[in-house]
Amino acid sequence: MPYTPALVPVAVPAGACADPVTVLGLGAMGTALAGALLDAGRATTVWNRTPAKAGPLVARGAAHAATAEEAVTANELIVACVLDYAALRAVLAGREGALAGRTLVNLTSGSPEEAREFAGWAAAHGLGYLDGAVMITPPGIGGPDAMLLYSGEAGAFARYRDALTVFGDPVDLGRDPGAASLYDVALLGLMWSSLSGWLHGAALVGADGVTATDFTPVANRWLAGAVTGFVSRYAAQVDAGSYPGDDASLDVHRAAMAHLLHAGRARGLDTALPALLADQVDRAIAAGHGADSYARLVEVIGE
Ligand SMILES: NC(=O)c1ccc[n+]([C@@H]2O[C@H](COP(=O)([O-])OP(=O)(O)OC[C@H]3O[C@@H](n4cnc5c(N)ncnc54)[C@H](OP(=O)(O)O)[C@@H]3O)[C@@H](O)[C@H]2O)c1
Repeated sequence: MPYTPALVPVAVPAGACADPVTVLGLGAMGTALAGALLDAGRATTVWNRTPAKAGPLVARGAAHAATAEEAVTANELIVACVLDYAALRAVLAGREGALAGRTLVNLTSGSPEEAREFAGWAAAHGLGYLDGAVMITPPGIGGPDAMLLYSGEAGAFARYRDALTVFGDPVDLGRDPGAASLYDVALLGLMWSSLSGWLHGAALVGADGVTATDFTPVANRWLAGAVTGFVSRYAAQVDAGSYPGDDASLDVHRAAMAHLLHAGRARGLDTALPALLADQVDRAIAAGHGADSYARLVEVIGE
């Protein structure tokens, strides 16, 4: 039976005096965010373009706003998590007059440029604005590995920090509203590169009959120990623009990459990933930097 939207008066659980929250957008992530607020005993008003998705949350105690206007005016703190900024603008269009004095925490993914532009739009309407990025999938919301990045108004972060802690560890990246989105895309790039590197390794050992399950503990030990150590050490080199190759030179790395390329080709694998890495190293060596560390590649990437 279709869910019939109705605005239910917000009932604050006994003993709960925390800020009530409105959640706009009840996709996979918005539903997890609203669920975490309910689990924490926070009075929560929810709205979604497709109203039926509110049903399970209402059954858990959420108030349902039949319109975006009702949702926006229900509480001072509004958390938005819709598909993209175009969707967010569509949700808020025509409701500008109701926004002044409220604070929007926007957990919708976007570019740094979109975040900065939206912060300007919010300021023009008297709306406090924090941009955010969720660095976990919905099942992890509220769990120990949940990290959420925030940037924007200092007052908004300090005022609502407790509420945001319900979703996961809130990391304040400063006052540039684009910072959370900038870190988000940088960290996603890191994640995809790492996952593809691991999958390439799994395919390589898999071709010789080793299971991914057997390979992975060794891979995780390598990542968490040595690779994390390289990253920490090379950060200072990148910032200094000086890349002493006193641990391993690019010439040494390039020789080892030849072995990886050979092993992949011998097993009929797609070697595009190691070929890309070898190409970057070749360009640095051709420019005369063969004795430098791997961190020198940051300048190849920035060319
Ligand atoms: N899922 C993840 O693991 C994850 C992790 C980090 C960040 N995020 C970010 O979180 C945001 C939501 O992701 P999700 O996984 O929840 O996606 P989703 O399950 O596809 O939900 C999308 C949400 O956006 C709404 N929406 C889309 N177009 C709209 C429009 N024109 N007007 C109003 N509402 C609109 C949908 O409403 P309907 O229900 O009516 O379609 C739904 O509530 C995205 O920006 C995503 O990048 C997701």
